[in-house]
Amino acid sequence: VGAPKAAAVDAYVEQAVVRPGPEFAAVQRRAEEGGLPAIEISAAQGKHLELMVRISGARQVLEVGTLAGFSTLWMARALDDGGGIVTCEVEPHHATVARANLDAAGVGEKVDIRLGSAEQTLQSLVEEVRTGTREPFDLVFLDADKAGNPRYLELVMEMVRPGTVIIGDNVVRDGGVLEADSDDPDIQGIRRFLTMQGEDPRLEATAVQTVGAKSWDGFSLAVVTRG
Ligand code: DHB
Ligand code: MG
Repeated sequence: VGAPKAAAVDAYVEQAVVRPGPEFAAVQRRAEEGGLPAIEISAAQGKHLELMVRISGARQVLEVGTLAGFSTLWMARALDDGGGIVTCEVEPHHATVARANLDAAGVGEKVDIRLGSAEQTLQSLVEEVRTGTREPFDLVFLDADKAGNPRYLELVMEMVRPGTVIIGDNVVRDGGVLEADSDDPDIQGIRRFLTMQGEDPRLEATAVQTVGAKSWDGFSLAVVTRG
């Protein structure tokens, strides 16, 4: 699915404007060597995330779903000293590969990889924000199991402030998001995740479809307008 030239356009965009440094190919090489699935976002999408961090002026970033740390590295590049990313990963091997990748890329000290179920990690982060030992997050990127997204969003909403940006990956899934009666928990998770954002009076949200090297999918984007 997707436009026939979409992957070629991604390659063109990558060399014309994205211009990823060699550290990104190194991340992908270590991911492949480690046997991780090649389901990371494209470089163009990674640069998009980097720019979202820059535009929003985010200092504290939360990511759910580290994998090999590819998107983590794009966002970490946008952070000044003092800024940081907490990234949640459930697979110990993924976390090990990501740690090596982020350290090798020189952003290791900005990234706190929390190993464990995302729900449990988010619950402990909520507690840290509630007790004032941690600032609310400025930008959140949700890219783990999509079945978990409704619960992750619920918890995220307890550690945001007006202006916080919330981005979700894979919200279109080759059009699968249309299947209201799907028995795929990821489809149901995405549908609920989008509806929750549409209905939440604290959020303004949209979703933008994408084609490219990663076929037909999309990002959701929301901003917290009030607490
Ligand atoms: C899958 C997950 C992702 O986050 C993604 O970007 C692409 C595919 C998956 O689970 O298949
Ligand atoms: Mg994804």
